[in-house]
Amino acid sequence: MNSILFATSEAYPLMKTGGLGDVAGSLPPALKALGCDVRVIMPAYRDAVARAGRLKRLLDLRVPTMDVTVSLLETTLPGTRAKIWLVDYPPAYDRPGNPYLGPDGHPWPDNGPRFALLARVVAAMALEQSRLAWRPQIVHCNDWQTGLVPALLALEPRPPATIFTVHNLAYQGMFPYETFLALRLPHSLWSSDGLEFHGHVSFIKGGLAYADHLTTVSPTYANEIQTPAFGYGLDGLLRHRAGDLTGILNGINDRVWNPGADPHLTSHYSWRRLEAKAENKRALQRECGLPHSADTPLIGLISRLVDQKGIDLVLAAMPRLLKMPLQFAVLGNGNRDYERALTRFAARHPDRLAVRIGYDETLAHRIEGGADMFLMPSRFEPCGLNQLYSLRYGTVPIVHRVGGLADTVIDADVAQLAAGKATGITFDDETPKALLSAVGRAVALFQEPAAWKRIVVTGMRQSFSWRTSAKHYLHLYGSLVPDADTTEAV
Ligand code: ADP
Ligand code: GLC
Repeated sequence: MNSILFATSEAYPLMKTGGLGDVAGSLPPALKALGCDVRVIMPAYRDAVARAGRLKRLLDLRVPTMDVTVSLLETTLPGTRAKIWLVDYPPAYDRPGNPYLGPDGHPWPDNGPRFALLARVVAAMALEQSRLAWRPQIVHCNDWQTGLVPALLALEPRPPATIFTVHNLAYQGMFPYETFLALRLPHSLWSSDGLEFHGHVSFIKGGLAYADHLTTVSPTYANEIQTPAFGYGLDGLLRHRAGDLTGILNGINDRVWNPGADPHLTSHYSWRRLEAKAENKRALQRECGLPHSADTPLIGLISRLVDQKGIDLVLAAMPRLLKMPLQFAVLGNGNRDYERALTRFAARHPDRLAVRIGYDETLAHRIEGGADMFLMPSRFEPCGLNQLYSLRYGTVPIVHRVGGLADTVIDADVAQLAAGKATGITFDDETPKALLSAVGRAVALFQEPAAWKRIVVTGMRQSFSWRTSAKHYLHLYGSLVPDADTTEAV
């Protein structure tokens, strides 16, 4: 049996700001279902502790390099049998709201020490420096917040195998050299082959340079990050490590995202009972204050409002979009300029555009259930989960053909339509014009009910199960730990 320590900075439903939370809430239970002995480890944020219910104090751990003692609190991820350890150190983690940003929307000034502490604790637990008689064969790290773990473990005589998964290369965890010194990180890590990046310490480089194997969350993104356009200056290192880099697509949590049983929806439906989706559209129009109209295509957009997501393209195209026979339901938060610009458009066109600024899981489900189409014009997208939820919910995705969007949405061009394989609309150019033309194609197809239904049903019947993705990870674990049991693997 593989024993895995899965290190993350968020895990649904205890803490989620985006797709990493979804992945860390779903992949470990899927691995457990395949027979792995998996423990998730994450900070004990205030909201996570409140959501966790009963917690058992597992042990106290001294972290000498940081002069602190932390407690590990154990529970299971709600609704699953997967164990999770919360690293309790109130001065670092007992804060409300977003785990990375303060109330002013800026990163917490002590994010370097906060996530260095997480890494020190993960490394200690991986090396059995605690009293616990449990040692993982694999330490699976995710994004920059856990990037120091592979670097710290690489300095040890007999470390467990390490995997580092890149969910988003744009976030790197960069801090001044003084932070490197203050964190008392071993000096041998300070080199351009190590943690140093243009005079700063880069936490993500700890993962990229030192992990035994690298993965990212789609095959196309695995190729893209090896190019200057998507590599943020790390493409050279990633090309160097190309032989150790794999793209494994994320899956969908079927319990949470299932139109046949979603508690947030007015009416449940499936590809066999598609008529019932119309009731969700009517309910969404009512909730958003949009006029009721079954025939007007309703486009949904749910997103962190950041540059990655192509919100600037949407804003540039908006005056023209608002002249088309369409309605929009937008949910998101992030960049204040984007929030203001969207809100201004909505105030001027309340019968066309509804904008909700904030984070709202219930509304996210209702938009997926009620909209006809889903817009995702991301400039880059490592995997993307909302287009997968959209496919599952019969809400045809309109996407920029990059990263995971390219790997999961099949364009309704003439050939794919004829072959019955189309599942959405894709566009190539990163311009408002290309976005407008893609939306135009979607609207034209919507007017052809038979063709549209075929696209919807083909999308709904795609399978993006976590079990499939987990089998790929299991296979990978097996290749790193030769005596591990991988009988379940692909
Ligand atoms: P990313 O992780 O880059 O934000 P993904 O598409 O992988 O992008 O995942 C985003 C996840 O966060 C989805 O589950 C999406 O529904 C959710 N999400 C994003 N913004 C909001 C919001 N404002 N309210 C509710 N859910 C949101
Ligand atoms: C990141 C990416 C997103 C991906 C998610 C989960 O936040 O931006 O594309 O789906 O991680 O892997």
